Order: sequence, then C-alpha cells, then structure tokens
Amino acid sequence: MTKPRVIVVVGARPNFMKAAPVLRALEKRGRVEPILLHTGQHYDERMSDLFFRDLGMPKPAVNLEVGSGSHAQQTAEVMVRFEAALAREATPPAAVVVVGDVNSTIACALVAAKAGILLAHVESGLRSFDRAMPEELNRICTDQLADVCYVTEASGMQHLAHEGKRKDDCELVGNTMIDTLLEHRVRARAHGDARRAEFGVADAAYAIVTLHRPSNVDAKAPLSEIVGAISTLARRLPVVWPIHPRTRARLAEFGLLDALEREVRIKLVPPQGYLDFLGLVDQAALVLTDSGGVQEETTVLKVPCVTLRENTERPSTLEMGGNVLCGGSRPAILAAAEKMLAVEKSAIGTPPAWDGRAADRIAEDLERRIDARTGRGGAS
Ligand code: UD1
Ligand code: UDP
Repeated sequence: MTKPRVIVVVGARPNFMKAAPVLRALEKRGRVEPILLHTGQHYDERMSDLFFRDLGMPKPAVNLEVGSGSHAQQTAEVMVRFEAALAREATPPAAVVVVGDVNSTIACALVAAKAGILLAHVESGLRSFDRAMPEELNRICTDQLADVCYVTEASGMQHLAHEGKRKDDCELVGNTMIDTLLEHRVRARAHGDARRAEFGVADAAYAIVTLHRPSNVDAKAPLSEIVGAISTLARRLPVVWPIHPRTRARLAEFGLLDALEREVRIKLVPPQGYLDFLGLVDQAALVLTDSGGVQEETTVLKVPCVTLRENTERPSTLEMGGNVLCGGSRPAILAAAEKMLAVEKSAIGTPPAWDGRAADRIAEDLERRIDARTGRGGAS
C-alpha cells in the first residue's frame, strides 16, 4: 500500500529550522511520505540554500519560486502556485504542515484548508496582541484554519482556548526550533571559533545584533535611533551585526550605511549560516534583536537578550529571565543592555518541553490524526 503523503511547507529563513526536525521525524518513523515544498519567499543563497546544507535537509521536491513582493502580491502568488502544485498531484496529500507566521504560512494554510486537506500548524498560539505586525495577522488566521495546532509554550494553549479552538485540536508539544538547536549546538562550536577569528572578536566579549522588523527598520527615525544606540554600546563591547537584506536596503536608502561601515567596533557582516550564527550567539555576552526565533534560542543558550520591541509573542522567554523588552529609544536600549549584561547565565531557565523531542511528538500525533481521518488502522 502506498504511504500517505504529507507536504511540509517552508518559505523563509526561520521556517527551515522549525521544519527540519519534523521532516526528519516523519521520515524516521516511516509511516508517511514527507514531501518538502519551498515557496521561494526567501531565495538568496544566504537566506535559503545555505540552511539546507547546514541542517542536512533534502532539496525541496517543489519550489514555487514566488520571490519578494508586497504582502498581497506575495501571499496571493504563493496561494495561486500552491493550489496549482496540489492540482498536479494524482491524489490530494493526507496532510499539509505549515510552520511559523510568515506570508507563506498563511497562504498555504488557506489553500490547504479550502481543499479540505488536514492542516497542521507548528508553533501555534503565539500572540503579541499587536495587529500592526503582519506576523500577528498571519498567526491568528492560520490558527483559525488549522485542524491541529502544535504549541510551543503554555501561553499559546491559553490563547487558542480563548479564541475558541477545541482542546482536542491543540497539543503543547514543545519547540521544534529548539530541537534543531540542541541537535547542532556542539557542531556549531567550531563554526563559532572560525567566525570569531574572522571577525576579530574574543569569546564572551562581544554583542550580536539582528534586526529586520518593519517597525524598526522601514522608517528613518526608528532605524537612526537604534543605530545610535548600537554605536554607543560598541564603545563598551564590540558588536557583530549580520544584516538582513531588508535592513541593508533601508540603511542604504536612509544614508546610514556608510557611517556604520566606518565604525571599527561594529562588524557588519552578511546574513550568517545557521551553524555560524548559532556558534556566534552561543559565546556572545549579549544579543540585541527584534527576531522572534532568536529570543527563544538565546533563552536556551542562556545568553542574555535585549528585544528591541514593545511586545513579544514569546512571553516564556521573559519569564525565564533571559530576555527583556526595551522598545526602540536609545536610552531604553542602553539601559536594557546594561541590565542584561549583569544577568548570570545560571539565572536563566528553560521553558517546559523545550527538550529536543517536539518533532517526535508532532510526528506521532499527526500520524494518529491521519489514520483517524483516513480510517486506516495504521499507515504502512
Ligand atoms: C519575512 C517574514 C518575517 C520573518 C522574516 C525572517 C513575512 C510577512 N515576513 O520578513 O515574519 O521574521 O522573513 O527573516 O512573511 N530579500 C532579499 N533576499 C531574500 C529575501 C528577501 O533580498 O532572499 C529582501 C527583498 O528586498 C524583500 C525584503 O528583503 O522585499 C523583505 O523580504 P520578505 O520576505 O517580504 O520579508 P522579510 O522582512 O524577510
Ligand atoms: N539566523 C541565522 N543567521 C542569521 C540570523 C538569524 O541563521 O544571520 C537564524 C536564527 O538562529 C534563527 C532564525 O534565523 O534560527 C531566526 O530567523 P529570523 O530572525 O530571520 O526570523 P524570525 O524568527 O524573526 O521570524
């Protein structure tokens, strides 16, 4: 008998780390045939292909090659091309798995749900309660559509219950991005050593910066304020800043890039591969970020994190003591950096079930749901 097929969707950088262990767990158990589909939302070598090599992921079976565009263009293009890809299959897949909160996530979720395909959402239930964030809208809509919500932290279960999701459709499984981190942490050490040598920084004596949220980088005033804070901080601690393509484009457009490139204690570098970035963060004194995933990774690595936002959809990182919110003003960023530089690693906790086994739990649960839907006693 042929195995039920499960399409696992990826599109943008953070999706790869979340999907890789799910794909692997489904493959290892051998009861369904996982098929990796890339929407092509991110497409630069350093935002996409590099991660497939670092994570040992197979080349996607399908790449929709949607590329960049406005929200409507990008979301619509993914929908049109994903629907066509599904139509080319002889029979519909048994399930579609989407991860995270990017435009590719909601686009594929909507197509799968309307096609009546079992839809699973990995990293479900997170809420910033900030509807100005495109990701918040993507998360709310995807969770409403999903047949099963796989949740990373306790707050997610509460939000889904509050929004009327059935208890049986929500599973607190842990964090697949942390599965990936725990799998690769040791291997990443040598990568960190090599990058520190290349960038001229010493263990535990530098800060890492990542920034890409539109609210921080798409207008000149907030971006200038943040750049000012980072320049001041760099007098105290050298800074390594892997620059997201959105941010590089804005720095250039606002005339801020040349001055930054002349700062000797700020090392502007291209987006890093996963192992290089993990190796760098693991030995950093401090991380300043507006990334979602980096807040979680620093928590597990016990590296103090300053989040340049007013809110977070990941409150467990605050509760564990490794993360603090500071918004975007220069004094607030500098005060938060001082505060977090004084935090002892031993004071930072790890959220429950972030234990490296989230993907196994998801694979087991998803197979059970596929069996129940197809009436199979067990896929074989
Ligand atoms: C997207 C996600 C965001 C996620 C981030 C992870 C949405 C709405 N946003 O934001 O949630 O946190 O990815 O990194 O889905 N670009 C390139 N090369 C690439 C990709 C993008 O140059 O490979 C440039 C293009 O100019 C593009 C811009 O970056 O217009 C933004 O890309 P896009 O995917 O629209 O949003 P991100 O800011 O990357
Ligand atoms: N990351 C990376 N290289 C970088 C910056 C980030 O590999 O230069 C990884 C990081 O370790 C995490 C993921 O990218 O696994 C987070 O993605 P991003 O910050 O782009 O998106 P978000 O989490 O905000 O959606």
